[in-house]
Amino acid sequence: MTKTISFILNGDEISCDIQDHWTLLHLLREELGLIGTKEGCGNGECGACTVIVDQLAVNSCLYLAADVQGKQVQTIEGLAVHTGSLHPIQQSFVDNGGIQCGFCTPGMIMSAKALLDKDPKADQEAVKHALAGNICRCTGYVQILDSVAAAGRQMAKNQGEGAAAAKDPGTITQQSMNKKAGEVIT
Ligand code: FES
Ligand code: FES
Repeated sequence: MTKTISFILNGDEISCDIQDHWTLLHLLREELGLIGTKEGCGNGECGACTVIVDQLAVNSCLYLAADVQGKQVQTIEGLAVHTGSLHPIQQSFVDNGGIQCGFCTPGMIMSAKALLDKDPKADQEAVKHALAGNICRCTGYVQILDSVAAAGRQMAKNQGEGAAAAKDPGTITQQSMNKKAGEVIT
């Protein structure tokens, strides 16, 4: 049966027609063209299809599209959209060798983001737990874990700087100067 759903996708409200049996993965990749989210196993084993729904990392291959009605969905495409630069987790995977073929990377990054958004200071055990459902077939996991840890440090630092600037609105940081000048923040 066809129905119309509305939800927030990467910060924008959208409405679309879906079939009852469609998965969220099908909707994202085949209907909306968001092919950053990958299909690996298709049955909840590999984590390649991970996206964030209302702050939780989910396997989109097991999540019915109809169930995102009224919810917030974030995919890998939404991470850099509003700043014009890579998200700290994306940058960290690049800087720390967390990527080889890259097939698992969007899912890894979305699982990491769901964790670090809540707790950028998450310890290694928490990171391992958050990524337990994400499989990489290219390499070991050391550089992936290092990438997430470094991203967490950067996000905690960014949060600290944001809080300090909010306490002292008179402080002119390079970032606020760039914003005033209308430049893209890097
Ligand atoms: S494609 Fe969804 S868990 Fe593997
Ligand atoms: S980088 Fe190739 S599967 Fe993980």
